[in-house]
Amino acid sequence: MKNIVLTGFMGTGKTEVGKELSRLLGLKMIDIDNEIEKSKGITINDIFERYGESKFRDIETEMIKKISTEKNLIISTGGGAVLREENFRMLKENGIIVCLFATPETIFERTKNNSDRPLLKVDDPLKKIKELLEYRLPFYKKADIIIDTEGKTPLQIAEEIMKKINKMT
Ligand code: S3P
Repeated sequence: MKNIVLTGFMGTGKTEVGKELSRLLGLKMIDIDNEIEKSKGITINDIFERYGESKFRDIETEMIKKISTEKNLIISTGGGAVLREENFRMLKENGIIVCLFATPETIFERTKNNSDRPLLKVDDPLKKIKELLEYRLPFYKKADIIIDTEGKTPLQIAEEIMKKINKMT
């Protein structure tokens, strides 16, 4: 079976939905950010702080290259992973790309009490979310399956993804 690759902005529920999919389908889940933290022995926050975003993006591409050669996985990506064409192409090779969407306000609510999103450590995070979302929209829209997560539980979203995948195959 192809990998199911979860993409989408921070706070759209990729991790929670990935866990549900993993449970329902009995497939292993891999979170790219977790893999980076494990392999480098340093948090994403610290990578951004010490080496900057562009170094993080290189490390992210390196990890995607490694993971995307595998099959039968649920892969949860960081919110900026699909901005690099190369990453998208590698993930798509063995995978079905799913993108989760939520409104800026919902994303703000879900992320506001969490300090491990370096890109949202700004004076006006809601404004930043809106700006980033607008810029990223065309990249997210390239996904094979697009899901609006508003008002849905992770389980409902996972079931919706499974239905859509069944229709495709
Ligand atoms: C990022 C999202 C984060 C993490 C990093 C950059 C982004 O992952 O990869 O902070 O550019 O949107 P989550 O989407 O899991 O929060």
